[in-house]
Parts: sequence; C-alpha cells; structure tokens
Amino acid sequence: MKKIVLLGPPGCGKGTQSKLLVEKDNFVQLSTGDLLRSETSDGNSDLGKKVKDLMESGELVPDDIVIDIIVKKVEEHKNENIVFDGFPRNLNQAEVLDSSLDNVSIKLDHAIFFEIDFKILEERINTRANETKDSEKRKDDNSKTLLNRIEVFKSSTLPIVGYYEEKGIISKINGMQMVNEVYAEITKIIC
Ligand code: AP5
Repeated sequence: MKKIVLLGPPGCGKGTQSKLLVEKDNFVQLSTGDLLRSETSDGNSDLGKKVKDLMESGELVPDDIVIDIIVKKVEEHKNENIVFDGFPRNLNQAEVLDSSLDNVSIKLDHAIFFEIDFKILEERINTRANETKDSEKRKDDNSKTLLNRIEVFKSSTLPIVGYYEEKGIISKINGMQMVNEVYAEITKIIC
C-alpha cells in the first residue's frame, strides 16, 4: 500500500490529481483543506469561526487542530493507499506525519512536488471560482487572498522540499502540463 504526499502552491493541481488517483488507482484522498471546510461548515462554534477566518485570509490553521484531524484519518486508513493533499504544510507537520506513520509501522513512499510558474495560479483559481456555483464558491478563491496563500506557501511549505530531499523521497514534476500529462508523471513515480 502506497503513502504519498502532493506538495505545491495553491491551484497547482494537487486536488485534481488526488481525485484521479482515487478514481483510477484506488487511493484514499486526505485533503486537510476539504476536511477543515467540512468540519467548519456550520461555523457555529468559536473554534469553527476562528478556523474559517484563518482559511478565508489564506493563513494556516494552527498545527494542533490540523494534526488532530489527520492523525485520526491515518489510523483509519493505514491499510489503504493514501494521497495526502495539502498536508504537511510546514516542517512541524512533516515531522508529525512521519511519527504518526511510524506509530503504525508505515513509511512515506513519495513526496511529489509540483513545479509551476506562480503567474498562472491566479488564472487557475479564477477559472475555478467562475466555474463553481455561488453557494459552493471558496471564500479564499480571490486574487487578494491568493497572493497571501502564495506567500504562506513560500515561507512555511517550501522548506519541506529540502526535508524530503534529505530523506531521498522527493520527486519534482512539471505542473504546467495538461492534467493527463501530470497524472502520467505521477503514476510513473509511484509504480
Ligand atoms: P487547501 O484546500 O489545501 O487549498 P490549496 O492548497 O490552496 O490548494 P487548492 O485547493 O486551491 O489548489 P490545488 O493545488 O488542489 O489545485 P486544484 O487541483 O484544485 O487549503 C485551503 C486553506 O485551508 C489553507 O489556506 C489553510 O488556511 C487551510 N489548510 C489546509 N491544509 C492545512 C494544513 N495542513 N495546515 C494548516 N492549514 C491548512 O486546481 C485548481 C484549478 O486548476 C482547478 O480549476 C483545476 O481544474 C485547474 N487545473 C488543475 N490542474 C490543471 C492543469 N494541469 N492544467 C490546467 N488547469 C488545471
């Protein structure tokens, strides 16, 4: 059973490729963004409101909240193929992921990093926003918040690439290609 991490900036295609891995390769997608959106959908608790505000501004949600969610999911799906989409987001989360996999005697097989020109991300995010009906639009899918999401990616998430390089499990792929070409690169890596 494979355990893989998809790493890259907002709009690079992590969600799109995770869904293909679910449909075609029998993976379970663990997207912290989706899990947080569903946990806070009623937005009633103080914690729910705080998390929603952070997400809408493009800041990271505190580690303890995200880690608590993901560790439970790892245990639930430990015997399946897992694609981590949007987790880890900083070095602390990367270390916690390793230790929670270690606890169930599993190792991460691959971390796949999407190399992409930041300039095309705005177009991708705007296209997604335009194609989504109003009731389902993400509040962080706008140009201003996207700029902050990219800055947060550069400062918090990008250092994880070096962490996985040291472990010898990083693969870099060209995220500028067509969806099916990106998918073909990923399947070549994980086979
Ligand atoms: P999250 O939901 O994880 O969002 P994100 O990382 O910003 O990524 P996106 O979902 O926007 O993009 P994507 O890379 O999945 O691209 P997609 O495939 O959709 O996080 C949201 C927020 O939650 C964070 O800001 C933070 O607040 C919080 N959060 C989440 N995880 C956290 C964590 N671990 N710790 C703390 N906080 C956390 O594609 C985008 C568009 O491009 C689509 O329209 C798609 O059709 C199109 N597209 C995809 N691939 C291609 C291609 N190859 N060519 C052309 N178009 C393409």
